[in-house]
Amino acid sequence: MEAIELLKKYNVAAPRYTSYPTVPYWENDLFAEQDWHERLRNSYEVHHNEGISLYIHLPFCESLCTYCGCNTRITKNHKVEEPYIETVLKEWQMYVDLLGEQPKIKEIHLGGGTPTFFSAENLNRLLKGIRGEDVSNTIECSFEGHPDNTTVEHLQTLSHLGFKRLSLGIQDFDPRVQFMINRFQTPEQVKQITVQARAIGYESVNYDLIYGLPGQHIEGLTETIKEVIELKPDRIAFYSYAHVPWLKPGQRHFTEQDIPQGDEKFALYKKGRMMLLEAGYEEIGMDHFALTSDSLYASSISGEMHRNFMGYTSQRTPILIGLGVSSISDCGTAFAQNAKTVEAYQLQINNNKLAIEKGHLLTNKDLEIRQHILNLMCRNHTSFNEKIPSDIEHRLKPLIKDKLVYLGEHEIEITPIGKTFLRNVCMALDERLWLKQPQTQLFSAAI
Ligand SMILES: C[S@@+](CC[C@H](N)C(=O)[O-])C[C@H]1O[C@@H](n2cnc3c(N)ncnc32)[C@H](O)[C@@H]1O
Repeated sequence: MEAIELLKKYNVAAPRYTSYPTVPYWENDLFAEQDWHERLRNSYEVHHNEGISLYIHLPFCESLCTYCGCNTRITKNHKVEEPYIETVLKEWQMYVDLLGEQPKIKEIHLGGGTPTFFSAENLNRLLKGIRGEDVSNTIECSFEGHPDNTTVEHLQTLSHLGFKRLSLGIQDFDPRVQFMINRFQTPEQVKQITVQARAIGYESVNYDLIYGLPGQHIEGLTETIKEVIELKPDRIAFYSYAHVPWLKPGQRHFTEQDIPQGDEKFALYKKGRMMLLEAGYEEIGMDHFALTSDSLYASSISGEMHRNFMGYTSQRTPILIGLGVSSISDCGTAFAQNAKTVEAYQLQINNNKLAIEKGHLLTNKDLEIRQHILNLMCRNHTSFNEKIPSDIEHRLKPLIKDKLVYLGEHEIEITPIGKTFLRNVCMALDERLWLKQPQTQLFSAAI
């Protein structure tokens, strides 16, 4: 079947599988915060030597990027920084108390919103408050920065705190697209930050790009990718634009007619992907590209690459604690998500309670499916001890016929063309989705 036909056939609403079960399928009514405490403590008892990952959500942005699907709070008032940081530090102390000690941290990621909305001084206070004076190089630290407000001071302060990885949100350099999505940065700004970061000692610079944005054209995207290739970031995330206006009303600032869809969107993906591969980038998992010198590429080859709520990471930790508004934590056998508004989050923590709003306790079946989905997402392959269950085999039949997957008696292997349809392959294993088909659209389109 031609690529375009495959696209038409498989471009259905599909989860991104940063977790299994996916958030809309969590059984919140079977979850109590006490269960989360217990499961987290049990998991920590077993895994404390392996260290934990920490995600800190910093939600503030000075202006609304209309395409954005993340949890954000738009304000120009920087007085919000200090109380927010105090609250996150208080939340961290609650976790330290719950675990009975300061856990060993293996990975810290500052995400947003815009972490560089915060002054370098406030980020310093936040990280010192969490890590104490420990700035050992054993923690893999990364942050997301907006090219428009990432300063040398941010880069230097975070570098002193052990940060070696930086991710810049670019999306597209085309001024027409930037106007449509209300997000502006020039290649010169990005170049300057990249050069400064490397001079300071950052080892890996990532750029986020998106295909399928309103007003995007093949010529503009080609120019953007050319500029990007010239700057040679170590990693590139080339995301499919997720259009979810029922969740993100900001996306109603443009109309559906403005968004490239179907063949047009696929052509953008194909062009961008081809240019990146020709420039020496390797395709890694879903949406990601890396130079062979980057640690993510090395981990994808050694089989250590992992996927969690933060996306792909080069190492696996059994426990992820998410601090801040809307953050999700994962102790391996349970998920918990914080309140989604800054006010609700701060109120709970300041009342000395974790700000957990919902969660899910994973069943044995969930754990099994989760591992298979993770294997497919990170290694394009999974194997079963028994024969592959007939319901999964049945759901995979069309994908086998279209040569997107190869099915052995005990294994599923994604073929090179199948990589574009990774989300569709994972859906075949998503038992909760098949048991209860959504009545309304929950996820963005697969491609
Ligand atoms: C939370 S944003 C951080 C960007 C950073 N705050 C900045 O402004 O540069 C993380 C990334 O998610 C991606 N993203 C956000 N909304 C998206 C959407 N609707 N579809 C696809 N990717 C999206 C963008 O590539 C973005 O850079």
